[in-house]
Amino acid sequence: ARKIIIDTDPGQDDAVAILLALGSPELEVLGLTAVAGNVPLPLTSKNALIVCELAKRTDIPVFAGCSAPLTRKLVTAEHVHGKTGLDGPQLPDPIMQLQDRHAVDFIIDTFRSEDTGTVTLCPLGPLTNIATAFQQAPDIVDRVKEIVLMGGAYFEVGNITPAAEFNIYVDPDAAKIVFEAGVPLVVLPLDVTHKALTTRTRVDAFRSMGTEVGRMVAEWTDFFERFDKEKYGSEGAPLHDPCVIAYLLKPELFSGRRVNVEIETTSELTLGMTVADWWGVTDKPANALFIGDVDADGFFTLLTERLQTL
Ligand code: BDR
Ligand code: CA
Repeated sequence: ARKIIIDTDPGQDDAVAILLALGSPELEVLGLTAVAGNVPLPLTSKNALIVCELAKRTDIPVFAGCSAPLTRKLVTAEHVHGKTGLDGPQLPDPIMQLQDRHAVDFIIDTFRSEDTGTVTLCPLGPLTNIATAFQQAPDIVDRVKEIVLMGGAYFEVGNITPAAEFNIYVDPDAAKIVFEAGVPLVVLPLDVTHKALTTRTRVDAFRSMGTEVGRMVAEWTDFFERFDKEKYGSEGAPLHDPCVIAYLLKPELFSGRRVNVEIETTSELTLGMTVADWWGVTDKPANALFIGDVDADGFFTLLTERLQTL
């Protein structure tokens, strides 16, 4: 199985992404590392535990990481995810405990102990933990197989400011470090996640699984939907973060372009913008595969199939 670390700020869509990974035998989840993002760190780390318990995978180590961006004040997204980050269903407090080690130490230790080029990083939130690990231990950068992340936007532009996507906007300095690191990078921006929309039929398929996981995912997506429906008048909610895991499982569902992507870190107006050279107007080398399209039916079939196994 392909070894992955999921770096996350759950978030209903993060929760679904984690469940998709745990329901997929092709992937071995070495650990979950929580970061501050959608809600503050105490909640994102607690939510990561809740998701492991829901999947009955209390063997997965969960680590708390950075509680604030590298240099900026934390911006959160309760307006999308609710006060807990996982608003929707009633959730029990987790019994499972966080690991003692800091998430950044876990990331560093894992890359130093596993064979070079065997572990993939899957960031689903702001890139603070990953950038901190790269800064503290530059020797691990060359050992990373690939980074497959949810973040950024190009044609779809921003969801937190007119120019920027939330994960990149919250810690643009961290994003800059990660995008410049030279690690093979796959980016799942809003351009693709806004095509992976829930619909009545798709949410009903979760609900009619007849399992606790199915019910939770249906209630989470119901809650999560209300924001996009009210705000954008779209049919359903974009399942942003599960796109990362689906890409690992079935890359043939996705298409994109290898382009140069740079992160804006200074402009007040466009802070956190992912400036993707889509039309190749510079001669800057490509540093990322920037995904633009997904077979949404194929994506939801895969997601439903895998959740059903939990
Ligand atoms: C991203 O921001 C968060 O609100 C979601 O969990 C997702 O990772 C989408 O912009
Ligand atoms: Ca997220």
